[in-house]
Amino acid sequence: MAVNKDDIKVEGMTVGKVLFTEEQIIQRATELGRQITEDYAGKQLIVLGMIKGAVLWMSELVKHIDLDVKFDFIAASSYGSSTTSAGVVKVKKDVEMDLYKKDVLIVEDIVDTGTTLAFMQKYLAERGPSSVKICSMLDKPSRRTEHGAKVDYIGFQVDDLFVIGYGLDYDEKFRNLPYVSYLEPEDVDKL
Ligand code: IMP
Ligand code: MG
Repeated sequence: MAVNKDDIKVEGMTVGKVLFTEEQIIQRATELGRQITEDYAGKQLIVLGMIKGAVLWMSELVKHIDLDVKFDFIAASSYGSSTTSAGVVKVKKDVEMDLYKKDVLIVEDIVDTGTTLAFMQKYLAERGPSSVKICSMLDKPSRRTEHGAKVDYIGFQVDDLFVIGYGLDYDEKFRNLPYVSYLEPEDVDKL
């Protein structure tokens, strides 16, 4: 997608710089979906989407997972309205399915400090699943503080930028951008 960085401004913030296009994201979701299909061959899989951010990525990924799949969703948050983690994770909407002896694939938008992921792994382990793995669209390894939290399937690695679009928000905005963009550091400083 040819989007000029000066084309799009929302509330004075440039949101048109494309890090990953829709085509690149769909291509990567296709590759990872096929790999997941091979890795879980013959098994049932509960795909657990982290709302709200992972919804767009999950919708691309699951189309390429050729298994007996069920969906569930969980909402947890460690971020308030700012761009830095509050460090405390709260479950706002819980899992509905029984995860006992099930293979669970958590689908995330981005793993940043790893706080949310580390919390989720402990939280879900209490339900006695057979396995819990994670597939994240983006990985920001430079910011990791929870090193125990391993990401099994990664779409793309990103530098230490505040990324938006394709599900990712700043203060609930920009989730619907059909590409991954980022806020300029000077715009983030204004927030
Ligand atoms: P963590 O707990 O620090 O790994 O952060 C996980 C959550 O923070 C993600 O699921 C996102 O919702 C949010 N987050 C982290 N980095 C970014 C970013 O660059 N843009 C938008 N949201 C982010
Ligand atoms: Mg999130």
